[in-house]
Amino acid sequence: MARVRKLITPLLALVALAALALAASGCGTTDADPQRGRTLFIQKCSECHALAQAGAVGQVGPSLDHAFAAAREEGNDSDTIEGVVKAQVEYPRESNGNSAVSMPADIVTGQDLDDVAAYVGEWAGVPGAAPPKVPGGPGAQVFANNSCAGCHTFAAAEAGGVTGPNLDEELQGEEQAHVEEMIVNPNAEIVKGYPPNVMPQNYEQLLSAKEIEDLAKYLIENAAGGGKTKG
Ligand code: HEC
Ligand code: HEC
Repeated sequence: MARVRKLITPLLALVALAALALAASGCGTTDADPQRGRTLFIQKCSECHALAQAGAVGQVGPSLDHAFAAAREEGNDSDTIEGVVKAQVEYPRESNGNSAVSMPADIVTGQDLDDVAAYVGEWAGVPGAAPPKVPGGPGAQVFANNSCAGCHTFAAAEAGGVTGPNLDEELQGEEQAHVEEMIVNPNAEIVKGYPPNVMPQNYEQLLSAKEIEDLAKYLIENAAGGGKTKG
């Protein structure tokens, strides 16, 4: 944690200065839409970053909750964190010694960047943050809480991710046990046309047996509108 603190503090100072300059010039910001930013975050950032309010569990980059918890506790407000996020997306800091996992610049720009930064600013490091409640029962909630929507299309959850296969198309008539296996052990069988090691390998650690069961049941029951469950 100390390492993270050390990296963030100078950035915060810079952003605070920039904010002062902006305020002085009378040029305020924006009508950012954090709700839209949340969807964009799940689509564009959750593969690499954890953020509790988004249900994001990516592990390539730092957890944004951990990254900003100390800053928030020290009294930096959402606007300040928003500024740090914008700066990082526009000019990503080079990764510590491992350029293979550096964050690419300008993953989002313009209004999209405003919205994502406003969203992360609102929630990163907020104690006890959790994804909002969704309709559809316990399995739907597990799906919403674990960034499945960032990578998969699934109509019942209004999920439009395209990094992984379309679950409406793939899961019709699947067996419960097989779907559970696909979730906890995604590399056992790689879906044709998709790369291995993209779907997180740690859902078995993140989720309880009951949650995995609820999730698989929800997917089978709702694939392509449901009604195609075997047995
Ligand atoms: C391909 C993976 C990847 C994606 C996608 C990605 N990031 Fe990153 N991000 C990283 C890595 C790696 C770092 C750490 C850089 C370093 O070592 O300092 C990072 C650092 C950050 C930091 C700084 C955290 C800190 O500790 O100071 C922020 C903020 C951030 N990313 C926000 C975002 C946002 C917002 C998005 C989506 C628009 C995003 N990232 C997408 C990989 C990614
Ligand atoms: C970072 C992207 C990513 C996330 C997050 C992700 N997946 Fe995947 N998923 C993939 C990719 C890519 C594949 C195809 C490659 C493979 O088979 O591992 C896949 C495959 C699958 C399959 C197999 C589909 C088939 O046609 O056999 C299922 C089921 C699945 N994912 C469910 C989930 C669920 C449920 C979640 C959330 C708990 C989730 N995935 C989260 C990327 C992701």
